[in-house]
Amino acid sequence: MTENQVQPTEVKITVRPNGSLRVEGPVRLFDANGGEWDLTGKPAFSLCRCGQSSNKPFCDGTHAKCGFESVVIAPSATAPQS
Ligand code: FES
Repeated sequence: MTENQVQPTEVKITVRPNGSLRVEGPVRLFDANGGEWDLTGKPAFSLCRCGQSSNKPFCDGTHAKCGFESVVIAPSATAPQS
């Protein structure tokens, strides 16, 4: 297993350039009222970061059409080695 692979018990969140937050691993997702999304069978999913998705909180690909631009890079001291 490489350093960037996710252990079965870990959660990995990747800030995608000009796009979503990719979430991988065993997580539960709730709204502000405590309602939970059924993520059964979804080992990974993407959360909208641009605010334009019609399927919030999930990304529906609209970021690519609306001109969303945000590239966030972790400081090199904490960035994983590839
Ligand atoms: S980040 Fe993909 S639709 Fe918003």
